[in-house]
Amino acid sequence: MAQTERRIEHTGSVAGPARRPFPPAAMQALQQHFGPDRILTAEWDLISYSYDASFASALRPGVPDVVVQPQSTEDVVYAVKVAAQYRVPIVPRAGASAMTGGSVPSAGGITLDLRLMNRILDVDLDNLQVVCEPGIIHDALNAHLLPLGFSLPVDPGSTKMATIGGMVANNSCGMRAVRYGSTAHYVLGLEVVLASGEVIQTGSANSKALQSASGMNLTGLLCGSEGTLGVITKVRLKILPKAPTRGVVTTFFDRVEDAGEATRLIFRGGIVPSALELMDRAAIQAVNKYRPDLKLPDAAAMLLIEIEGQPAGVAETAQTVARILSTISERVEWSDDPARVASLWQARSIMGAAAGTVKEHATRVATGEDIAVPITRMPETLRRIAEIAQRWEVGCTTYGHIGSGNVHSAFVIDPRNDDEVDRVLKASDEIHQLALEMGGTVTGEHGVGFVRPQYMAQEHGPALAVMQAIKHALDPFGIMNPGKLLPLEGPGGTY
Ligand code: MLT
Ligand code: ZN
Repeated sequence: MAQTERRIEHTGSVAGPARRPFPPAAMQALQQHFGPDRILTAEWDLISYSYDASFASALRPGVPDVVVQPQSTEDVVYAVKVAAQYRVPIVPRAGASAMTGGSVPSAGGITLDLRLMNRILDVDLDNLQVVCEPGIIHDALNAHLLPLGFSLPVDPGSTKMATIGGMVANNSCGMRAVRYGSTAHYVLGLEVVLASGEVIQTGSANSKALQSASGMNLTGLLCGSEGTLGVITKVRLKILPKAPTRGVVTTFFDRVEDAGEATRLIFRGGIVPSALELMDRAAIQAVNKYRPDLKLPDAAAMLLIEIEGQPAGVAETAQTVARILSTISERVEWSDDPARVASLWQARSIMGAAAGTVKEHATRVATGEDIAVPITRMPETLRRIAEIAQRWEVGCTTYGHIGSGNVHSAFVIDPRNDDEVDRVLKASDEIHQLALEMGGTVTGEHGVGFVRPQYMAQEHGPALAVMQAIKHALDPFGIMNPGKLLPLEGPGGTY
C-alpha cells in the first residue's frame, strides 16, 4: 500500500473533503488586495501552515493553496468574499496550538493567518470587560491585565501559544475551568464575518452589559464552532479581579483510582477549588526526568488542589481540604508560599512537553487525549485508561483537569514505527468509546477538528441534524473550514 494511503488509513478519522484546483482568478484577486507583503504562496511557506499539534495532521497534513494575513475586519471580509465567489475553502488559523487539526486546511484553499489582528481595542475595568482582536495570545492579554489587578481566568495549558480567537473557536478550558468555566462563559459578544461576507455583532450590537436575555444566543453558538460558521474578528470578553492569594494542597495516592474518589469527596465537603489537577505516576516520572529540580515525590497519583481568596480564608479552606483528604490519603501537604505554588504549577504546566520523556526514542502524540466524564465515573475511567494503554502496549501519561472530569491520556510512542502508530490509534478509539460509555464526551476542551467527527452521531444523536441544518443555513456552499467538526456527509450535502 502506498505511503499516503497508509497514512490516511492511520488517521482514524473520516476521509477529508475533496480537494479542487485553486482558481487562478481567485489567486489574482487575493494578490491584488494582500500582495506582496501579506500573501504567502511559496511551497515552503504553505507547508508550515499544513499542521497543528495533532498527530493526525502529522500523518495527514493539509497544505493550503494560499495564506493571507489580514490586518482588519475589512481584509477578512475581502478574503471571505473571494472564497464565496470562487467556492473555495477558507480556514481561520492563529496559534495552531490545537490538538485536533481545526486549523488544518484539509481541502486546501485559503488560510487566514489572523496573528496580525492581535490588538487590545478597549480595556474597561469598571465594566469588567475588554475588547480584543482574535490573534492576541492568551498570555499576552493576561500580561496586560494582571498589573491592573484583573485577568481572563480561563487558563489553557497552551497559554503562551493559544490565541483568544482560537480559544473562542474551540471553547477552550484549562486548569481553572473547575471554578471559572470555559472560554464561552467569558465571551460577551463577537464580531463575526459570515460566509456571505456580511459582518454581524453578537451579544447585542452596542451593548456593554455583562448579561443579556435578549434574542437567541448566537455568541454561544459561535463558541466552539471551530471556524465552520464564520470568522471571528473581534471578541468582547468579561474579565475578573485577580485573586489576592493562592494556596495549593498536594496529596499523593498509592492507587490512581483514589484520586477520582478524592475529587468527589472534596466537592461533597463543600469546597470548590480554583483548580483540581491530576498527575499519575508516569506523569510524575516525566516531570522529574524533564525538570529534576522540581523533585516531585513518587506516587501512583498526585492531586494539586488550588484555593484562591483572602489569605486567612485560603489557609482555613486548605486545612478543611487537608482534613477531607486525610480520610483517603496519608500524604497531604499545603503551601501558600508563592515560590512553592509557582513550582508546583510549573510541574503541571510542562506536562505536555515532558510526557515524551517516559519512553526512549518516543514522543507524545495527541490522539485520544481529552475526554471528560462524570466525576463519579472517574475512578473507573482512570483504571480503564491504564488498562487500554497496557493492552495496546503504548506509553501513556495521564494528567489533567480531574475537577472538571477532563483528563488527558497522553500517549507516547515512536511515530516512525508503523505498528506502534496502528496500536495508538486503536487505543485512542477505545478511549473515545470509553468516554461515551461512561456518560461523558469525547472532548472536554480540545475540540472536534478533523479527528473526531466520526463520534458526533453517537454522542449527539438527533441534535447532530440540527447542527448540520445550522451549518447549511449559514454556509450553504460549505466554504467555511470544510471537513471539521461535522461528519463530511449529511442532510443537504457535504460539510
Ligand atoms: C493541558 O492541560 O496541558 C493541555 O490541555 C494540553 C495537553 O493535553 O497536554
Ligand atoms: Zn488540558
